Amino acid sequence: MSEGQVSVSGNREAVSLLVDCDTGIDDALALAYLCSQPQVELVAVSSTPGNVAAEQVARNNLSLLELCGRPDVPVAIGARAPLRIPLVTTPETHGPQGIGYAELPEPRGKVDEVDAVELWVETVRSRPGELTAMLTAPLTNFSLALRAEPRLPELLRGVVIMGGSYYYQGNTTPTAEWNTHVDPDAAAEVFTAFSGLPEDRLPVACALETTERIELTPEHVAAFAAEAGCTEPELVLPDQPEGRRSTASNELVRHVSDMLRFYFEFHRHYGQGYVAHIHDYFAASVATGTARYRTRTATVHVETAAPKLIGTTVADFRGLWGEPPNARIVSENHPQEAFVELVRSLGGLARRLENPAV
Ligand code: BDR
Ligand code: CA
Repeated sequence: MSEGQVSVSGNREAVSLLVDCDTGIDDALALAYLCSQPQVELVAVSSTPGNVAAEQVARNNLSLLELCGRPDVPVAIGARAPLRIPLVTTPETHGPQGIGYAELPEPRGKVDEVDAVELWVETVRSRPGELTAMLTAPLTNFSLALRAEPRLPELLRGVVIMGGSYYYQGNTTPTAEWNTHVDPDAAAEVFTAFSGLPEDRLPVACALETTERIELTPEHVAAFAAEAGCTEPELVLPDQPEGRRSTASNELVRHVSDMLRFYFEFHRHYGQGYVAHIHDYFAASVATGTARYRTRTATVHVETAAPKLIGTTVADFRGLWGEPPNARIVSENHPQEAFVELVRSLGGLARRLENPAV
């Protein structure tokens, strides 16, 4: 492998996605964004325990998909816990239900009877070469799917992962990113499964150092609401009382605003300012091909044993270990473009949901 190898994307072709998420405020934004993209076929959404427990993730997914006009998309549950270690959730980051202050309507639909792992394997086998995997959660379900069908890397059209932090400080421990930290064993299995495949088959890993650049601010919320057609400005401001609820006339705007207020408060609480890192939305824009980005091939090792380093990802960009590459790590992205795209696309969806004729 050579240092500095790059790939660039930025088109708007039809894409069929299998999504696995742990919804989660930024997962919720990612899902809503996917629903706003007409060229995206959302084949199924599976729910991994992470930000909240699997049942709550599935409830959030069902409710959001219904809210976004996609009640037809199957929602499944697979694993209830990481492969080898107990589940640790993060209510301080995403709120007790995973969606900040938002109170989404009780979903009408039910979780699919088929286990998520089986659903993944059967669906990918039935459409070889067609489906792209978008993984914005710990990699538990995906690693189990790989155990059940080791040919997944060849059968999938592509794989996009939000995970890992590469020579950049972690957001969970000093060196580990949340998704790899929650299930390091799964992450290690997944990267190993891609070892030695041709470069265009390697998963694109949206690294924390690039996803933290997708830093949402109150101005973006206001712009989103305006794009949705709200006549009153949507003000989510640092000097307002914590927990204040949105009164926006548009339902999607109201819920997104209530989620994001919580996320802003969380980031401020951790000294990052009144902003929100919407990691998983960036992964969604990579999976849909709407983002421009560059990658570098690397051999990724996920630490699963050393207590203080659990979940740490180390990337060998130079072939020093003498092992074949197993990932393409995003090394460059474009936050401003990402927000123009999000505001336009999600705002348009919110507007259409209230007034389908527009
Ligand atoms: C990742 O951790 C989760 O809390 C977010 O949803 C995102 O997938 C960022 O480290
Ligand atoms: Ca997530």
